[in-house]
Amino acid sequence: MNLYVGMEKTPNQTTNIKRNVTAIILAAGKGTRMKSPLPKVLHPVAGQPMIARIIDACRKAEIQDLRIVVGHGAALVKTVLENKTVFFYEQKEQFGTADAVRSADVESLEDDVIILNGDHPLIESEDLANFVREFRDEKLDIGLVTTKLPEPGSFGRIVRNAGELYAIVEAKDASAETLKINEINTGIYVLKAQVLKELLPQIKNENAQKEFYLTDIISLAIENKKKVKTIPGNKRVASGVNSQKELAQASTHVFRARAEKLMEQGVVIIDSNNVYIEETVHVGPGSVIYPGVYLKGKTAIGSFCLVEPHCFIQDCVIGDSVQIKAGSYLESSVVQSKCSLGPYARLRPDTELAEEVHIGNFVEVKKSKLGKKTKAAHLAYIGDAEIGEECNIGCGTIFVNYLPNKSKHKTKVGNHAFIGSDVQLVAPLEVGSNATIGAGSVITKDVPDGALAVTRASQVIKENYKPKR
Ligand code: UD1
Ligand code: MG
Repeated sequence: MNLYVGMEKTPNQTTNIKRNVTAIILAAGKGTRMKSPLPKVLHPVAGQPMIARIIDACRKAEIQDLRIVVGHGAALVKTVLENKTVFFYEQKEQFGTADAVRSADVESLEDDVIILNGDHPLIESEDLANFVREFRDEKLDIGLVTTKLPEPGSFGRIVRNAGELYAIVEAKDASAETLKINEINTGIYVLKAQVLKELLPQIKNENAQKEFYLTDIISLAIENKKKVKTIPGNKRVASGVNSQKELAQASTHVFRARAEKLMEQGVVIIDSNNVYIEETVHVGPGSVIYPGVYLKGKTAIGSFCLVEPHCFIQDCVIGDSVQIKAGSYLESSVVQSKCSLGPYARLRPDTELAEEVHIGNFVEVKKSKLGKKTKAAHLAYIGDAEIGEECNIGCGTIFVNYLPNKSKHKTKVGNHAFIGSDVQLVAPLEVGSNATIGAGSVITKDVPDGALAVTRASQVIKENYKPKR
């Protein structure tokens, strides 16, 4: 079945790869070796499903016609990729890589085709452009991307005859002698659509797995006098993910590369082997990132910030000279310059902190705006609040925003208000500017500007008191 999503399918006029290229990405396999219920190609590499990375690399190389062969977990794969402009083809049963290619409406292909495995997440747009360029410069019918690995493991082996490419032999079908070959099939093929249409139907399933191997196209092409050559790849494009270990290795590769890039741009990273900064994240020069930090999604951090150990920050915009102390957890919030947070601060979505706000240890803020220089230094919950400038929110204060009928209400606090320790502000509520709330009060009625509100019982002293036993 051919499911079409998004834009009209048109040959690209402005492509940097001159003729039309179609990419077929094989992503129908179960990924048995992953031992996970998630379809293999949806496993994330540094925060992004591996198949999404490959699609993005193709897009960046301006490949317009992108065909994804889905099968195992097809519905989920399609849902996750619904924002990507790609064509889906379903391979109902997984009879092997050649069968998967057959599912992608081969008859409709034109010009050149690049076939990629959905489990090689480290491929980059420049690789794709280089492979296609080499294929065209050499005027090939099929270009097979290979590389040499010290431990070739389960990769298909490249068998040569008098130095010329002769066949690919799968590790499962290889003799002990063949297994010693360390040149391997990366699973990347560039070929003429016409050649694919001619040879694909000839592939048989006579092998250990009783599968239709795409690898057999090489020996068939040689028999049919086609011009077939290897194109040099590298270890990175060959990094296939077949197990959780290989998945973690792929993520490590991306995180290390990102950390190195940021260090080149002047970010201080104390231990580049122990930070997890996604490629979508920006960090300004002069900022210091401590070990164990995870920066995710659309996060942008300014210059001269300090992010101490074990902070998790997702989709946040953070100004300059912000100090985020150890163990803080920040999501979808805006933090202006010179704020200080933590240790162990929590910002939940839709929080906005103006300049020089201080949020101390064990303070949780949700969907609230805090004005310049306001402080909540210890152990507080601030939810659905709008707080003015230079306010003090005392230790243990609770913004009581959640009523038994599950409705949520807002609290407004004016500039320079002083909220004493252990106060409960029961929303909906307005506390005026310069108002003072006595410690331990439960405030249920609005407090005017400049007023003092206290609700606790007055203190009683009984001298020389002897408790009754
Ligand atoms: C394959 C190659 C091997 C190469 C290696 C590179 C074959 C027979 N072998 O082995 O030579 O060295 O890739 O990583 O091609 N898939 C389908 N439908 C299927 C079977 C597989 O869509 O019926 C997809 C999988 O989802 C995966 C890709 O094809 O993305 C490769 O399949 P996999 O089972 O991982 O092949 P390998 O054993 O890695
Ligand atoms: Mg594989």
